[in-house]
Amino acid sequence: MSEQHLAVIVLAAGEGTRMRSSTPKVLHEIAGLPLLGHALATATALGAQKVIPVIRHEAEKLEAFINAYYPNSHIIHQDEIPGTGRAVECALSGLPAEFSGAVVVTSGDVPLLDVQTIESMIDVHLQTSAGATLLTASFSDPTGYGRIIRDQDGLFGSIVEERDATEQEREITEVNAGVYVFDFKALKNALAAITTHNAAGEKYLTDVAVEILKTGSQVNALQVSDNWLVAGVNNRVQLQQVSSELNRRICEGWMLAGVTITQPESTFIDVTAVLAEDVTLLPGTHLKGITRIGQGSTIGPEVVITDTQVGSNVSITKSQVSGSVIEDDSTVGPFSYIRPGTHLGAGGKIGTFVETKNAVIGTGSKIPHLSYVGDATIGEHTNIGAGTIFANYDGVNKHHSVIGSHVRSGSHNVFVAPVTIGDGAYTAAGTVVRKDVEPGALAMSVAPQRNLAEWVIAKRPNTASADAAKKATE
Ligand code: UD1
Ligand code: CA
Repeated sequence: MSEQHLAVIVLAAGEGTRMRSSTPKVLHEIAGLPLLGHALATATALGAQKVIPVIRHEAEKLEAFINAYYPNSHIIHQDEIPGTGRAVECALSGLPAEFSGAVVVTSGDVPLLDVQTIESMIDVHLQTSAGATLLTASFSDPTGYGRIIRDQDGLFGSIVEERDATEQEREITEVNAGVYVFDFKALKNALAAITTHNAAGEKYLTDVAVEILKTGSQVNALQVSDNWLVAGVNNRVQLQQVSSELNRRICEGWMLAGVTITQPESTFIDVTAVLAEDVTLLPGTHLKGITRIGQGSTIGPEVVITDTQVGSNVSITKSQVSGSVIEDDSTVGPFSYIRPGTHLGAGGKIGTFVETKNAVIGTGSKIPHLSYVGDATIGEHTNIGAGTIFANYDGVNKHHSVIGSHVRSGSHNVFVAPVTIGDGAYTAAGTVVRKDVEPGALAMSVAPQRNLAEWVIAKRPNTASADAAKKATE
């Protein structure tokens, strides 16, 4: 196709005032990516020679995002002349003078637009040797959009912005979707000819199409059948609508790929998450960032997993997990808080009211109840008793502890870091481990138990306890 002669301009220099936000509009996220990220992902996938985002408002923030995630794009700053036409005019300065071919223009605030739609526009555009090809949509409520005026033969005539439209023109439900393919030379010449003589005092890109028509070139106006693809985000109501539609589509895609999702309305999957076949997602599951779930695993209800690799046949219930690795056949939750740097080995368990951080837990090892495990390495097939605290913080610095394999630690232990417990060692209930424990030893730090006979009868006379004790010893 035209790939040697294709440039894509992504407009993102607008103010986005209707969002009422300190975050620039196109950096608001849906499905784990900013709106601009979705637009740039599509632009990049077209395989163009150049992808040119045009920015102006909050330029530093946008620039930082683009440089971090799309470093090959060629950022252009729009000057103070307003309007989509001016934005494109500025963008053309990013192309070499000898460039020829097609220029695609999209917007940073239209996140669901897909590669296929643009590719089929380019096909029609090239087949008809058109000067411009634009996308339209039929909206039952066209408020706010530019209206498409066609002649009696149904051919494209012009675009009228709502502010400039007559009452009659406002009745038209076919709108300009804001996605265009232009012939580079036709675009360049037309931009030079258009003015800011309109209600907004802006240089409209929409006037370019009319200008190109005047020169005798063909302008195609193709209607999209799926309106969501061209839905723009101008405020937070539209942000939510587009976000939930995208999520619905993502869930549907995974269901068709073999994932059971019992309640898609309460299941949220970022575009960056990857799921294997026979995964089951129960209500209230959120899979965020670079997250992978292996075959046969069941996640939920009420689980938030971020940037985590989960193996196969894992069960995670009512828990929060981030920045971690959970290997095959292990179980997590209910009510576990797994923080970055946790690595749970195969067949392991992190159970109820357990918090972990920077903890490497070996194959088959278990931390079943009420514990904090921070900055630790635990060997294989070790059991950490209920209510164990790894005291990793001395008030100034964090310290690391090492627990061996096949260790059995008693309930209600404190491991005062740094401390090492050897393979096969035991610790008694209530032990505060301050010194290393050699392999196979039993560590005990509690004082031997003394029972003071008849203490209750003597010291708490006439109480129910004293009466019960008397009865029992009669
Ligand atoms: C624009 C179209 C309208 C169309 C609609 C589709 C024009 C004049 N109007 O209206 O016909 O129906 O999109 O969504 O083009 N931008 C810049 N520089 C600017 C102004 C805007 O880069 O000076 C960017 C914005 O960041 C945004 C895009 O261009 O990404 C569209 O601008 P916006 O103000 O949202 O235009 P609409 O009013 O939606
Ligand atoms: Ca818009």
